[in-house]
Amino acid sequence: MTDVLAVAGLTVRLTAHPERSSILDDVGFSVAEGEVLGIVGESGSGKSMLALSVMGLLPPALTLRAGRISVLGDELAGRPREAWRVHRGRDMAMIFQEPMTSLNPVMRIGTQITEVLRWRGGLGRTEARQRALELLEQVEIPSPRRRLDAYPHELSGGMRQRVMIAIALAASPKLLIADEPSTALDVTVQAQILDLLRSLQRRSGLTMILITHDLGVIAEIADRVMVLYAGRVAETAPVRTIFDAPAHPYTRLLLESIPDIAARRERLATIPGAVPDVFSMPPGCRFAPRCPYRQAPCEQAPPALRPLATDHHAACLLAFGELAMPA
Ligand SMILES: Nc1ncnc2c1ncn2[C@@H]1O[C@H](COP(=O)(O)OP(=O)(O)OP(=O)(O)O)[C@@H](O)[C@H]1O
Ligand SMILES: [Mg+2]
Repeated sequence: MTDVLAVAGLTVRLTAHPERSSILDDVGFSVAEGEVLGIVGESGSGKSMLALSVMGLLPPALTLRAGRISVLGDELAGRPREAWRVHRGRDMAMIFQEPMTSLNPVMRIGTQITEVLRWRGGLGRTEARQRALELLEQVEIPSPRRRLDAYPHELSGGMRQRVMIAIALAASPKLLIADEPSTALDVTVQAQILDLLRSLQRRSGLTMILITHDLGVIAEIADRVMVLYAGRVAETAPVRTIFDAPAHPYTRLLLESIPDIAARRERLATIPGAVPDVFSMPPGCRFAPRCPYRQAPCEQAPPALRPLATDHHAACLLAFGELAMPA
């Protein structure tokens, strides 16, 4: 199977503090054609910055310091912005976490979609408008013809998110990166957006990266999962393995924090403590300060991400039996 995306050794730091800061550290993964990779991790773990790195859209405050990013075999890291631009839209597109900030507030929805179609797809005005209408239908926007002439503020948050998806799909990209629908959306709307993404993916065999806090969402959509913690990969595995045999304590704790509606649990289990600050990453395992199983070696050097089985990797000494599980 060909990799649509291959990332290795990706390291991102604050531009102003390259020595003292760490946003992403030695992140590597690949996404095969037609595959859905779920990326999970708590707020601040670097999920959005990873997606922006791949798209070549890191804000100026952040800098890609090392690593390889290969899109359809084309090596992009270290190349000028123009090299990325060739791939953006056509080969890869991203749905941003904040739809309102990525839609142009003074431009009608239809115009925003047809711009992409005319620029990327080389369509004429009439064809582009027809295709824009089809795209709005595809993302299940009610009264799509009327919405073409609406401005973003006239739509609900969920509708705007759907418009963002339509724009992302306009140039028929191979890879779609969906940063989870804003948590500002209510849970029902979020679920509808995820259903939409899932059905679009199944219909077209789209290659997708889905970013979320929520392993419950991952279970529904992803083939493979990458767990990110404080800018490092904690674990990667097929989705079944993540649920049936998680190796990293962080993954296990994330699993315990999945809302269990059937059991009507009143409170979610949350992991005590917080993701470390980008200026004060622990020298060893970055999860060690919060890990219930931590032992002295965990705090000395960062554990390498190593294979436990085919396609299952973890960065934890305990996972490899190198530390005895405490009683
Ligand atoms: N411009 C910036 N200046 C300083 N720090 C930044 C900047 N942008 C991001 N960061 C830091 O980078 C880290 C990773 O941020 P990122 O937005 O990727 O997290 P995330 O996993 O997407 O979180 P969330 O789930 O809340 O969206 C965070 O600690 C964040 O504070
Ligand atoms: Mg984010």
